[in-house]
Amino acid sequence: MVRVALVLAAGEGTRMKSDIPKVLHRVCGRPMLSWVVDALEGLREAGYIDRILVVTGKGADEVEREVCDQATCVVQEERKGTGHAVMTAAPHVDADELLVITADSPLVTSETLRGLCELHRSSRAAATVLSTELDDPTGYGRILRDEGGAVTGIVEETEAGPREKAIREVNTSTYVFGWQTLKKILPELGTANAKGEYYLTDAVALLARAGEGVSAYITPDASEALGVNSREQLAEAEALMRRRINRRWMAEGVTMEDPSTTYIGGEVSIGRDTVLRPLVMLEGSTVVGEGCVLGPNTRVVDCRLGNGVTVEQATLRECELEDGASVGPYASLRPGSVLRAGSKAGTFVETKKTVVGKGSKVPHLSYMGDAEIGDGVNVGAGSITCNYDGVHKHRTVIEDEAFIGSDTMFIAPVRIGKGAVTGAGSAISKDVPPGALGVERGKQRNILEYKRKAKQEEEEGPS
Ligand code: UD1
Ligand code: CA
Repeated sequence: MVRVALVLAAGEGTRMKSDIPKVLHRVCGRPMLSWVVDALEGLREAGYIDRILVVTGKGADEVEREVCDQATCVVQEERKGTGHAVMTAAPHVDADELLVITADSPLVTSETLRGLCELHRSSRAAATVLSTELDDPTGYGRILRDEGGAVTGIVEETEAGPREKAIREVNTSTYVFGWQTLKKILPELGTANAKGEYYLTDAVALLARAGEGVSAYITPDASEALGVNSREQLAEAEALMRRRINRRWMAEGVTMEDPSTTYIGGEVSIGRDTVLRPLVMLEGSTVVGEGCVLGPNTRVVDCRLGNGVTVEQATLRECELEDGASVGPYASLRPGSVLRAGSKAGTFVETKKTVVGKGSKVPHLSYMGDAEIGDGVNVGAGSITCNYDGVHKHRTVIEDEAFIGSDTMFIAPVRIGKGAVTGAGSAISKDVPPGALGVERGKQRNILEYKRKAKQEEEEGPS
C-alpha cells in the first residue's frame, strides 16, 4: 500500500493583500507551509505516509526552496481551485491512498492526522474528511449529513443557504481519499459555483452519491482547523501557536512570569529551571541552557546560551554565551560575540566579532568590535575599539589580566600585553608590552585663582 500526502500551496492568497506567497507568511517564525510539512514528516516517521507532494503556484520557486528537502513539488500554472490543484498533481500521484491537506492550516498536528488516517482505514471509507465544530463557522465549508448522520457533501459559505449556514461542523480541508476512487470522479468536478472554480469539496458529494462510503473525523481541538486567509487569521494563528509552544516549554520545566508576552520560535530549545521574565523573544535556532534568567525585555536571535546565563534588557544576535555569563541591562551583542564562562557585557555595551575571555568584564558604556579579550581582564567604563579606519576593519588584542583604564581608545590594530595597564583617557595606538603601563595624555595644567581673575577683568572692562 503506497500512501502519498498532497499539500495544496498554490493559491493566490488574495485576501492577504501581499506580494509574498500566502503559504510563506510566518507563524512563530516559520512559514505556514513548513509547519504543515513538519506535521506530515511526523506522519511519515510513524509509517502513515510514504512521501510528500506539494502543489505550488504563486512564487513557486521560493515555495519550492522552502520544502525541497522534504517534498517533491508540482507547479499548478493556472490556479483554478482546490479540485484543479489535485487534477494538476494527479499524474505525479502513484498511490493507493491520498491524504490532501492545505498549506494554510499551520496548527494541524501529527496526532490529529494520525487519528484521521486510522479512522479512514478502520471505516474502509472511500473518503474521510477532517472536520471540527466551530462556534462561528463563517467562511468555512459546512459538512452536510443525512438523517442517519452519514456525510453527504460539503457546501461552501458562498453557496450555502441560511439553513446550511447554521451548520457548525466545518471542513478543515484535510482529507484522506482512496486514490483510485477519487481519480475516477475528478473529471466530474465542474465550475458552476460562485467562484467559477473546481472545488475539491464537491468530490465528497460525488463520492457519496456514487454510493462510496464517506466518513468524517471530528477533531475536538477546533484551533487545529484554523485556515489562514487574512492577516487577522494570521495573527490568530500566531497567538494560538505561541500559546501551544509556551505550554510545551512550561511542561518541560521552564518558568514564564508572563506567558502572554513570551515569544518562543518553533525551533528554539530551552533547558529546565530557566526563567523567562516578561517580554522575552527567543528566535531562530536559539538554544538556551538550564537555570538561566532572561529578560525583562530581551530579544535573542540564533544564539547559544549555556547554563546559568543572565540577560536583561538586551538584543543578542548570533552570539555564544558560556555558563554564568551576564549581559545588560541595555546591551547589544552583535554577530560573532562570544562571552566565555563567567564574563560580563554590562550596561550600554555593544560588542561585535569579539571574544570576552573567562571572568573578564566590560561593565559600562563600551564598544568592543573585532577584539580578542583574554581571561581576567577588566575594561574600564567608556572604552572603545577604534576598529574601522574607513576602509578596513582592524583587530584589538587584550591579553590575560590586563587592566584597562576608563575611556581608553584602542586605535587598532593594537595589542595590550599580559597584565599590562592603560591610563584612563589614553588613545592607545602602539602595542603595550606585558606588565607595562601605556599612557597617552597631555600634562595637566592648573591656572590658579582663575575665577577671581576672570571676575576682576569683567569689572574693569576692556582695557
Ligand atoms: C477551503 C475549502 C473549505 C474549507 C476551508 C478550510 C474548497 C473549495 N473549500 O476554502 O471547504 O472550509 O478551505 O480552511 O476547497 N489552492 C491551490 N490551488 C488553487 C486554489 C487553492 O493550491 O487553485 C490552495 C491554497 O494555496 C490554499 C488551499 O488550497 O492553501 C485552500 O484554498 P483557499 O482558497 O484558502 O480555500 P478556502 O476558501 O479557505
Ligand atoms: Ca483557506
